[in-house]
Amino acid sequence: MHQNKTHYALVALLWFMVQQACAQPRISIFFDHVAEMARQENISIREAAQRVRQLGVEGIDVRVTMSDSQLTMLDELGFQNASAIADINFVKGEQPDAVRQAIDFMKRRGYKRLLVIPGLLPENATPRILDEVGKRMAAFVKEASKEGIDVMVEDYDNARSPCYNTQSLDRLFAASPQLNHVFDTGNYLFCGEEVMTALQHFRPRIHHVHLKDRKAMRDHASLPVGTGIVPLKEVVTELLRSGYDGWFTIEHFGAPSMLDYATQSVANLQAVWKAMAAPSFDEVISSRRSVRSYDASRKISETEVRELIRAVQEAPSWANQQPTKYYVALSEEKLKAVQDLVGGNKERIKNAPVLIVSTFERGKSGFFRGQQSNDAGDLWGAHDNGLSVAYLVLKARAMGFDTLIMGMRDADKLRQLFNIPDSEQVMAVIALGYRQDEPRRPQHRQLDEMLKFY
Ligand SMILES: Cc1cc2nc3c(=O)[nH]c(=O)nc-3n(C[C@H](O)[C@H](O)[C@H](O)COP(=O)(O)O)c2cc1C
Repeated sequence: MHQNKTHYALVALLWFMVQQACAQPRISIFFDHVAEMARQENISIREAAQRVRQLGVEGIDVRVTMSDSQLTMLDELGFQNASAIADINFVKGEQPDAVRQAIDFMKRRGYKRLLVIPGLLPENATPRILDEVGKRMAAFVKEASKEGIDVMVEDYDNARSPCYNTQSLDRLFAASPQLNHVFDTGNYLFCGEEVMTALQHFRPRIHHVHLKDRKAMRDHASLPVGTGIVPLKEVVTELLRSGYDGWFTIEHFGAPSMLDYATQSVANLQAVWKAMAAPSFDEVISSRRSVRSYDASRKISETEVRELIRAVQEAPSWANQQPTKYYVALSEEKLKAVQDLVGGNKERIKNAPVLIVSTFERGKSGFFRGQQSNDAGDLWGAHDNGLSVAYLVLKARAMGFDTLIMGMRDADKLRQLFNIPDSEQVMAVIALGYRQDEPRRPQHRQLDEMLKFY
């Protein structure tokens, strides 16, 4: 028994930790994309930035040449600093002005991660030029690190870039131990390399991620993230599994509709997170408990209740009669009214943000052409209602919610409150919310007391 309890507590704790780790995808976008979106949609940059925030994008990747007024506008909209980008042409020379500008910007605006684009090599560049670029970059990295700036280079989709592929990046990294990597998922494909192989190879240096998707290897056009050949789920899973807690910047330069592409990219990325955070069926079952104290600060939206009940519709029922109905209290007024109709349960559910009354239509399950089919009659309606509620409490748990089924309730007053017709039997009231305290797992009968084999 004790061992069992420990096992269940561990499963619950593990699931909780996975959920916490995966709960918040940190998605960012290039400011350049926002500006392009404004142009395409014929709206102001502020309006485009607001739309992007509404999609769930929290971070912004800016250029060190941007004006203070634009940066202040982004701060006002609640964007967090993901990374800054500086073109510093180390191919041509040491570039003291560009170096100073980049470092000043980082200090002034409080950015920590700086992506440096070091220019393009001339045709037929000799390895000596690459070594010189490496040395200039290393000197810059040393200077910037003193200011707490994390300098990074990305795999860049131009064969003349000093950071075009694994080989050229290795050379730069060898020259500069403190230099880190922006892992661009689409650009390895562009130079004909495997994304996952590159990820493994560079993992210790990956401090930032550009999520870019492509139709085919060596194809320059980018697609919404998750719609091309980049193994998005594998990339994200591997990064998180190995402890990456940085930003995922969606990237699609040249998109015909930045707004559509960003909408799709964010949705696809969030779907990956959701799938990763989803508990197994056994975890859902073992972590569901009757919860008798709810977190008052956490609400549940109508959209979430709809998602929940959509899953509940999959429950089986007698001849597919689907006799169960749900009456959902979401408003303060209705919640208060229902709280007064659940007897001694009132205190237990006073902070639950949703209260649901379940009923079943009499004379449906167990009846054929108006005639009772067998001895159980309307008990089949109650049976189907129980099945439906079982789906509800389990799906709720899978969505991270908690529940309490209450048989203690005033059926007549609930009928009045929700205008429930006499043709329906009022069954349980179900509280839906987030647990405040860890519920105890009750004792269960021995298996053999409820199970007989013949
Ligand atoms: C039909 C039904 C009615 C219930 N009514 C109440 C109730 O009015 N108040 C309450 O606190 N718990 C109620 N419960 C919860 C049970 O007490 C609980 O499911 C049982 O003790 C097992 O605990 P667990 O759900 O945490 O596994 C009810 C459960 C069911 C299925």
